[in-house]
Amino acid sequence: MSDLMKKLNETVSFIKKEFNGEEAGIGIILGSGLGNFIQEVTIEKEISYANIPHFPVSTVKGHSGKLVLGTINGKKILAMSGRFHFYEGYTAQQVVYPVRVMKLLGVHTVMLSNAAGSVNANHKVGDMMIINDHISFFTPNPLVGKNEEELGPRFPDMSEPYSKELITKAIAIAQRENIELKQGVYVGVTGPTFETRAEYQLIKSIGGDVVGMSTVQESIVAVHCGMKVFAMSIVTDLGIRDEENTITHEEVLQAAKEAEPKFTLIFKELIREI
Ligand code: HPA
Repeated sequence: MSDLMKKLNETVSFIKKEFNGEEAGIGIILGSGLGNFIQEVTIEKEISYANIPHFPVSTVKGHSGKLVLGTINGKKILAMSGRFHFYEGYTAQQVVYPVRVMKLLGVHTVMLSNAAGSVNANHKVGDMMIINDHISFFTPNPLVGKNEEELGPRFPDMSEPYSKELITKAIAIAQRENIELKQGVYVGVTGPTFETRAEYQLIKSIGGDVVGMSTVQESIVAVHCGMKVFAMSIVTDLGIRDEENTITHEEVLQAAKEAEPKFTLIFKELIREI
């Protein structure tokens, strides 16, 4: 058995013991400024990342992160409160380690969220966008290296990384709730710099609608191991605009926070229907 599989098995058997064998079918990873979603969850058990064998060790003081098992709208979910970003210095394989753990714990569907900058002229700050495709060429592919045949194929098909069925369900929910949802292409970048004006133009010209520093590596690994993926961006800033073009992390967090109630509603209702 490979070193990775050995580690994954150790992590998974530790978590299973902590969860007393309880399983969840839906995995959730929350983006910047969207962490309050966890308050909607009836928590059954939470484990600090620091206590989970082989989990990446958090680089941010006081932000160790937690794996949460709980119930929402009658469904068992497994949520990562705090995700790992490539810009923090983790390898691509470390970033996606928890996604693989989710799969081995019985998760069949992952729901991802993020804050993103938009280069689409029809977007405004606070918009929500269903990710219907992505471009990941700017970040290291987490599947580079020896392929784990137990997890998935060497050359995974990526023609539909984001489940059409879940997108259709989310659109119906949004219509019912009178919430506007955009759809588009997410371009993954490493960060931590926000983009230059020329870079935002490049992202637009290659077919991107929004750009962000997470999600694509997680999606790739989820598809590789056969999970369904649903992902949504909150537009927290506009990359292409006439006026002065500065962006701060605080502005991103504030915009995400303002959109959070709408985001939470869509995620909660979608969980009910999965
Ligand atoms: N660029 C990259 N990542 C981001 C942005 C952005 O403009 N906004 C939020 N995350």
